[in-house]
This record gives sequence, C-alpha cells and structure tokens, in this order.
Amino acid sequence: MKLSLVLTTYLGLVSQVLAQTYWYETITHQGVAPYNPQGTAYQVFRNVKLFGAKGDGVTDDTAAINAAISSGSRCVEGAPGCQSSTTSPAVVYFPAGTYLISSSILPYYMTQLIGNPNNMPVLKATASFSGLGLVDGDPYGSANPDYGTTNVFYRQVRNLVFDTTNIPAGTAATGIHWPTAQATSLQNCVFHLSQANPNSHVGVFIENGSGGFLTDLVFNGGSPAMNIGSQQFTTRNLTFENSVTAINQIWDWGWTYMGVSINNCGTGFDMSAVGTVDGHANGAEVGSVIFIDSHISNTPIGFKTARGSGTYPPTGASMALENVVLSNVPTAIQGPSGVTLAGTSGTMTIAAYLEGNSYTAGSSTPTSTSGSVNAFPRPAGLVSGGEYYTRSKPQYQNLAVSQFSSVRSAGAKGDGVTDDSAAIQSIINSATAAGNVVYFDAGIYKVTTTISIPPGAKLVGETYPLIMGSGSFFSNMNNPQPVVQVGSASGQSGIVEWSDMIVSTQGATEGAILIEWNLSSGASSPSGMWDVHTRIGGFTGSNLQVAQCATSAAQPNTNCIAAFQSMHITPVASGLYMENVWLWSADHDIDDPSDTQVTIYSGRGLLVESTTGNIWLIGTAVEHHTLYQYQFTNTQNIFMGFIQTETPYYQPSPGATTPFSPVASRNDPDFSVYCAGKDITCNDAWALRILSSKNILVYGAGLYSFFNNYSTTCSDHNDTTYNENCQTQIFGIDEGGSQSYSGSTIYLYGLNTLGTVSMIDSGGVSIAAQSDNTNAYAETVAMYVAS
Ligand SMILES: *[C@@H]1O[C@H](CO)[C@@H](O)[C@H](O)[C@H]1NC(C)=O
Ligand SMILES: *[C@@H]1O[C@H](CO)[C@@H](O)[C@H](O)[C@H]1NC(C)=O
Ligand SMILES: *[C@@H]1O[C@H](CO)[C@@H](O)[C@H](O)[C@H]1NC(C)=O
Ligand SMILES: *[C@@H]1O[C@H](CO)[C@@H](O)[C@H](O)[C@H]1NC(C)=O
Ligand SMILES: *[C@@H]1O[C@H](CO)[C@@H](O)[C@H](O)[C@H]1NC(C)=O
Repeated sequence: MKLSLVLTTYLGLVSQVLAQTYWYETITHQGVAPYNPQGTAYQVFRNVKLFGAKGDGVTDDTAAINAAISSGSRCVEGAPGCQSSTTSPAVVYFPAGTYLISSSILPYYMTQLIGNPNNMPVLKATASFSGLGLVDGDPYGSANPDYGTTNVFYRQVRNLVFDTTNIPAGTAATGIHWPTAQATSLQNCVFHLSQANPNSHVGVFIENGSGGFLTDLVFNGGSPAMNIGSQQFTTRNLTFENSVTAINQIWDWGWTYMGVSINNCGTGFDMSAVGTVDGHANGAEVGSVIFIDSHISNTPIGFKTARGSGTYPPTGASMALENVVLSNVPTAIQGPSGVTLAGTSGTMTIAAYLEGNSYTAGSSTPTSTSGSVNAFPRPAGLVSGGEYYTRSKPQYQNLAVSQFSSVRSAGAKGDGVTDDSAAIQSIINSATAAGNVVYFDAGIYKVTTTISIPPGAKLVGETYPLIMGSGSFFSNMNNPQPVVQVGSASGQSGIVEWSDMIVSTQGATEGAILIEWNLSSGASSPSGMWDVHTRIGGFTGSNLQVAQCATSAAQPNTNCIAAFQSMHITPVASGLYMENVWLWSADHDIDDPSDTQVTIYSGRGLLVESTTGNIWLIGTAVEHHTLYQYQFTNTQNIFMGFIQTETPYYQPSPGATTPFSPVASRNDPDFSVYCAGKDITCNDAWALRILSSKNILVYGAGLYSFFNNYSTTCSDHNDTTYNENCQTQIFGIDEGGSQSYSGSTIYLYGLNTLGTVSMIDSGGVSIAAQSDNTNAYAETVAMYVAS
C-alpha cells in the first residue's frame, strides 16, 4: 500500500473506535477565570456526570445538572448585583445519555451547554415537567426576564436533543427559552415535540432581545416549532417536520433566514402578527424578513403575512424571498384578505419576490412593490450548488485528543498578568507544523506584541479565552500594530480555522488593530472565523471600566482610547467565511453591578479591502467605533446578512473625528467636506460605507443610532412623538468628500435604520428618507439595487 493509503486506513480505524467519544470530554481541563473571586479554585469545565447526573433515562437529573451550573462563584439570575459577568464563565458538558428532568435547567450568565456531538445527549422532560423551558436561558423572576435580554452575551448551546414528548400535547411545553443578544448561538440541536393536533409544544421560544445566531436545528412536531421575536437575528439550516406551524414570527425589526427546510407542516412561515402599533389597531408587528435558499414541501400554506393594501405601518411586514422552492404548497403566500401568491400542487421556484418599498439607483422615491422582482446576481465564488456557501463551526469531532495542543500545557498562563506572547507564538507555530489543533484553555492571555497565525493553523477556545493586547507596542495611533495577524507574510495563501475566542486590549492602546487578516484562501475552500469576537473595554482586567472610563470624565479621556481598529481584511486577503462575529467597543461595563455606561474610543470597525473578495459575513455585528462600523473599499463579491451596527452613544459630543483624525490613505471618511453646512449630528460614525466596490450583496441590515450625547430623546417613539434625528445619515455609497469613489454595485434586501434622518446616501445625496419608509419601530427599505 502507498503510505497515504496506509495512513488513511489507519485514520479510518481510529475514527471508528473514536466514533462515540469526543476529544472535548477527555482533554485535560485546565482553563482558568483569573478574576473570579475563587481564584484558581474556580472550575470552568463541569462534566454533569461528575456532579451526580446519571443520564440513564430513569433518574431525575435536574438537581445534579443545575448543581454543575451553579457550583462555584457565579453570576446568579435575579441576584442583586449580577446583571452580567465575564469573570465566571462555565462550560457544562453532557456526555452521551438520556437525562430525565422535571424542571428547567437554568444556565447562569456566560454558561455554555455542550453535548457530545458523536452521540448526542437527550434532555427528556418528565410528564409533569414544570418550568418555561427544558433549558430556560433567562427566567422570569424578580426582574422580567432576570438578565436584561439585550445584554445577554457570550452563550452557546450545542449538540443536545430536547424531548418534550412525555408532556401531553395540549400542555404548554418549551424546549429552550432563549431571549439573548449578540455573540450567542444555538447549534446542532434536535427537538422532539408532540406531533398531535391541537398541540402546545414549542421548540425554541424567543420573545425579546438583540440577537444572535441559530444554526443546524431540526424540529419534529410542535405548534409552532419556533416562536420567536427579537430586534434582529440570523438563522440558517433549520429543518421542520410535521409541525402545525413551523415558524411563528412574533415581532422583529429584521431577520434573515437561510437554508430552511419545511416538510409536512400546516403553515411554513407565519409573519401575520398584528397588534396596536402607534395607536393603530391591527398594525403589523413584524418589521421585515429575508428568507432565501429554502424548500417547503407538502404544506398547505407556505407564508402567512399581515401585509396587504393599506397596511399600517407603511412598510410593516416587509418581505424578501429569494430562491425558495415549493413542492405541493397550494398557497404560496396568504395575505390578510386572501391569497397574495398562488402556490402549486406540483413544484415551483420563487426566484425572487418582494413586499415593501424598493429603490433603484437614480431615484429617491420609493416604489411600493408587491410581486416578483429580479433575483440578485450571485457571484460564482460565493455560491455552492446554487445556494450561498455556508459552513458550520467545526467541532473536530473525528479527531483524537492527541491531535490537540493546549496553550497552557505549553507554558502560557492565561492569568491576565503574565506576558504570554512568546509561549503562545511558539505553540501556535509548533502545533500547526505538526498538524495539531491549537487548544486555548479558558483564560486571559496578555500579549505585548503581535501574535501571528500561519496558514494551516486551527485554533479553538474553551468557552471564550481572550488574547489581550497590552502595552507600548500598541500605543501609537500613527503606527498601528495588529494584536492578532492571520497570514504572517504578504501574499501568503492557505486556510485558517478559528473559533470560540475573543481578541481584546488593555488600557490605552490607541494603536491596536485587533485582527488583521492578510491570508488568501480559495473561494471553494475559504478560511473561517466562527464565534470569534473583539471586545474593547467594559470587562474586568481591561483597565477600561467604570473606574477608568466613566461617561462623566472630561472627554476625550486619553486613558480610554483603546483601539485603532477592530478588524482589517487587507487587499491581499481573500476567501474568508465569518459566522456569528461581534466586533464590540464597549458601551457599558459588563462586570459593573448595574451595567453602567462607559466612554471608550475605538477608531474603526471592520474594513474590507480584499481585491478578490469572496467573503461571507453571516450573522455579524459591529458597534460603537468612532469613524465607521463597516467599510468596504475597492473590494468585490461580498455576502452579508444580517449585519447590525450601533453608533457610539456619546457622539456627537465629541464628534466622529475625535480622537482619531481621518487618515486619507486608509480611506477614512472625510467629515469636513460632507458635513459642511449640515447639522452637528452629521458628525457621527457611519454605520456602513461602500466605496468603489462591486457585487456587494446585503441580505438584511439593521443600522441603529439610539443616542445623542447619551440621551435617547432623538430616537424616542410613542403615540404622539416620532423622533428620528440622532444623526443625519448612516449608510454612504461612494461618498467621498475630498476623495473620489465611484461605480459601486450593490444589491440589498431589508435595510432597517433607527434614529437617522437619511437611510441611504449615494455620492453625497440622500436617496432614501426615513420619513418615506416608517415601520413599527425602525424604518425599512425592502430592496435597493445599484447595478
Ligand atoms: C422587550 O423588551 C423591551 C425592553 O425591556 C420591552 O419594552 C418590550 O415590551 C419587550 N417586548 C416583548 C415582546 O416582550
Ligand atoms: C445542517 O444541519 C445538519 C444537522 O446538524 C447537518 O448535518 C448539516 O451538515 C447542516 N448543513 C449545512 C449546510 O450546514
Ligand atoms: C498585511 O497587509 C497590510 C495592508 O496591506 C500591510 O500593511 C501589512 O504589511 C501586511 N502584513 C504582512 C505581514 O504582510
Ligand atoms: C452632554 O450631556 C451632558 C450631560 O447631560 C451635558 O453636561 C453636556 O453639556 C452635553 N454636551 C453637549 C455638547 O451638549
Ligand atoms: C412621548 O415622548 C415625548 C418626547 O420624549 C414626551 O415628551 C411625551 O411625554 C411622550 N408621551 C407619552 C404619551 O409617553
């Protein structure tokens, strides 16, 4: 046999033996939480069986599982002084087994519930189960819910089966109650719900929050299988079988669905919710939805909507469908007063269909559209088998524990104090050369120079370890330096996979570029970042908390200029898949008992300059950077959906050019030209800039400006007042000032803005006014095309 064949055969045997085990269960767990009050005694990783859970399908394991969660010094729901915390992370691990539970599993703040993906553990409710969810991520208690839903960050549930079938069909039952915000995810879960009718079983219930990401979920039964509402969310690869209603959208501002498969259900997707909106009865509660690359079969009604003639609010229930295949779906879309789009007993493909206001370049008047539109042209490099390419976070479930190299075993401390630069660089290089995955045990790894990730590297964190740039190397905004650089020489090619980590800074680090991506990867096999975030300030160990960065301090406070840029994808980089990535300059201190606001300055959010492109931004958010959140310059072939931004709360005092002066060579925005003669609120960060770039595809965006100088009066909404003037403009296309840009081509569905007078500016001119596009809370442009 050839050596490669011997090796393949050998690895095949090994993987068969390993089939039931999971490296994550057996690897030595030595993660630390350096600022936990318990110090080194604090246990990050908890195997529920070591806390007494039996997983035998007979014993009631509720108390044992909750003990695994609550053990040690944690941030307890409803306890005074714990709204949120970064100092008590926990991984609660479920080996294979059936865990019988009689009341809710309550994951405290920053808990990851992770099962063995090779033999997925089952959480099975008893017949008399009590509680809102088998897992209740945010229970109703002394506060409602106990953790503020828009501040629930850094949480995952993976590889679990939820089974409510012991509970009678007519009794309310919920798999998981999951009102959460950014940097959270559910991945690879199965829901076994009652399949009887009538049926009160729900798989996923989300009533509020600012999410978030869900992927790879399978639902059997339920009514509805998903019952969900939030400001915005990205959801993909959802399968529904035999549900009365597959998805019920309670409310939203915007929501992106990709890769949904609905089979043998009653109704596929229901967005017909109405209620009192601004004093109008029967107002549409759902703002907007984007639904693509999906299949519905053997289901009488595909979509149900509240949108018809005379809908209030004017852009309520905006909808964009693209590449949706129907088989035996007699009614494609059911409106409030009849069928809006007929279906078929055979098969049909909805190439593209729109309800809501649309704009084409050159016109500043919206067209109210209801019907078929041209599908967006899909760049070949972004597509696989006709659908947009997607790839779930790797869990490496076929690898043996010997194929992982721990950074703590290699001498890194992760204690937030020791300079771990050399130890980390050394293990990344040697593990990658040996073909191993670099395992970052939980911890805070302080570095004082750039960490370089070479092609071929795979890095994975235990909960969310931090790489934290600190010191003088990062302190000069005229000579910025990366904290983490991917591709350590210009023009390097190869693949890097990186998941479950955070990159941060400590103290005054005005010259830090947290992530610089210089690697080129092919379109068909891109590099990937999953659940990798930046977090600038607002946590213990950052020296950028309430004590240092109070909003009441004299501004700009030079101790709190904490990043030059969150992330830069440079001209030589290409082929990068980013999923569930949140680039956050803190607006509040997560470890402060009252989540008090802080004023932190970070210059720029995400800059994409890749000349080749082929970049996917699936479920990403960029918030509170001073000059812009997302900027695309001289790039092409970008897919994004849903993207979400917020303007810094302190602006315009000081304005966007404080403390970072725009640098022309970096194509920073030139506020001096385009704000001349405009209101002071022109001096606010751009949420999204597209400059001389081609084939920029946006499938859902929420660009929000809630504050002026920490006051929300400028975005207040009630029955008598409708303020939308926190800033003059937010989304600029080929907007140059003294620089000149041109020729961008953009295809966008579902743009939602808040607090901005103009929703879209092109070449310095407003082309979509918020007043023409009002929705229940945000404003919505259903489609914009500049081709
Ligand atoms: C969501 O939370 C906000 C803020 O706490 C609250 O005003 C609103 O009523 C909640 N919505 C729902 C549907 O629970
Ligand atoms: C969808 O999820 C299923 C179940 O987790 C998984 O097997 C499949 O690979 C996923 N497909 C995609 C396209 O991510
Ligand atoms: C990465 O790209 C940037 C921008 O082009 C460049 O300044 C930097 O030198 C590159 N880094 C390396 C190591 O090639
Ligand atoms: C911002 O608000 C603070 C507190 O309300 C106030 O003292 C300050 O004058 C305001 N600044 C400007 C420029 O309006
Ligand atoms: C509506 O908002 C305005 C501005 O914030 C406020 O003055 C007014 O009292 C509010 N009205 C109601 C009914 O809440």
